[in-house]
Amino acid sequence: MTHEIPRRNFLKAAGVGAAAIPFAGLVTPIAGKPMSGPLRVGLVGCGGRGTGAAMQALAADKDVILYAMGDLFADRLASSHASLQENFQNRVQVEESRRFTGFDAYQKVIAEVDVILFATPPAFRAAHIAAAVEAGLHVFCEKPVAVDAFGVRSVLETAKLARQKGLSLASGFCWRAAYGHRALYDRVHSGGIGEVRHVYATYLTGGLWYKERQPEWTDLEYQLRNWLYYTALSGDHITEQAIHSIDKIMWAKQDVPPVSATALGGRQVRTEAKWGNIYDHFGVLYEWEDGTMGHMQCRQQNGTHMENLDRIVGANGVAFIDGWANHFETTGDFPWKYAGPSNDMYQTEHDELFASIRAGAAMNQGEAMAHSTLAALMGRMSAYTGQRITWEQALNSQEKLTPDHWAFGPGVPAPIAQPGVTKFF
Ligand SMILES: NC(=O)c1ccc[n+]([C@@H]2O[C@H](COP(=O)([O-])OP(=O)(O)OC[C@H]3O[C@@H](n4cnc5c(N)ncnc54)[C@H](O)[C@@H]3O)[C@@H](O)[C@H]2O)c1
Repeated sequence: MTHEIPRRNFLKAAGVGAAAIPFAGLVTPIAGKPMSGPLRVGLVGCGGRGTGAAMQALAADKDVILYAMGDLFADRLASSHASLQENFQNRVQVEESRRFTGFDAYQKVIAEVDVILFATPPAFRAAHIAAAVEAGLHVFCEKPVAVDAFGVRSVLETAKLARQKGLSLASGFCWRAAYGHRALYDRVHSGGIGEVRHVYATYLTGGLWYKERQPEWTDLEYQLRNWLYYTALSGDHITEQAIHSIDKIMWAKQDVPPVSATALGGRQVRTEAKWGNIYDHFGVLYEWEDGTMGHMQCRQQNGTHMENLDRIVGANGVAFIDGWANHFETTGDFPWKYAGPSNDMYQTEHDELFASIRAGAAMNQGEAMAHSTLAALMGRMSAYTGQRITWEQALNSQEKLTPDHWAFGPGVPAPIAQPGVTKFF
């Protein structure tokens, strides 16, 4: 049974802002230039997610044309192009001369299009979106947006520039586009469980893919083909995968940044060199100035219990999400169960992005996506060093994981972090 939330409870619990804003400040329409007619779209990073994002962009708007593509590797670009062409025929107009490979492919794609989709490994994101916004493009970019604080600071600057230019900067934090999630967070922000006191999220899963080394691959090509397992490329799985759970913790708190993170983590099972230098489990306690605590556990270990749950404990009830089972409910004074439609959240992301571009009402999700990324990095920094890390420390961190210039060649990954030995800087 569903109970209406009395208005007085709504006002008491909304606390953080004047009103509960759907999507928690993630979507901020900004006056820009409405766009009509064909929109030329480019894709950079033509792997699984990038190919999916291009399909969603093509499905979102009948006048979207996929016009240019870029990937580090020709084989990845070719298979993505073939699959997109098979599905969308003449709306895929990527002539041979507009298929670019190598580290500078993104610059060449940027020069050809109006809207760009970025789905490379996270290490490249901050520089790529900075160049795209500088060139005046609307951007969709996958999460996470950085692997270190240098990247986060750059994205925060890019978000400001996009705002000044009236450009969209839309993120791949896809759960924010899922109707059941939106309904639940809306209810939480409207006082449905009272003041939020504790948030608990899990991303417990098994291992992911691995690509055997080929004789012709340099060290960096091998690492880039297996980018998930290198902190400098993926940010570690807390940043690459469990960030969805961290983003939902941030959503519960209406994107107010936590004060600190105190984390544990390690490499218990995935210990062979082929798994690079990332950990296989983390547990993080986030603390807010108002006393709220957020607890996140994530694991990538085969044969272990799998779950993706969120629980938000309020003064008068508990909100519960089973992300994989599409189940949303709240208990307490105003019990509620989501009975609305479910949607393809990936498609909704693009439907809303292209509608905003057409309307000249840019979606700027830049600050929220940078903040969720920093929250994940803060957890990693704490687990790697064994120290309590504050938001200010994380934001001002001088640890730089990405080079200024990328080139294939030899390279040994950084040593595996050891709490108490690895220094924060
Ligand atoms: N929102 C989601 O639910 C979701 C799901 C999956 C992946 N992702 C994110 O999408 C991104 C891509 O993940 P994926 O699963 O598609 O990985 P993938 O390995 O399948 O694809 C990445 C592609 O980027 C290419 N690439 C690497 N470096 C590049 C560079 N410098 N320039 C151009 N291309 C480059 C690779 O060759 C590859 O084709 C990651 O950030 C990941 O976290 C998000």
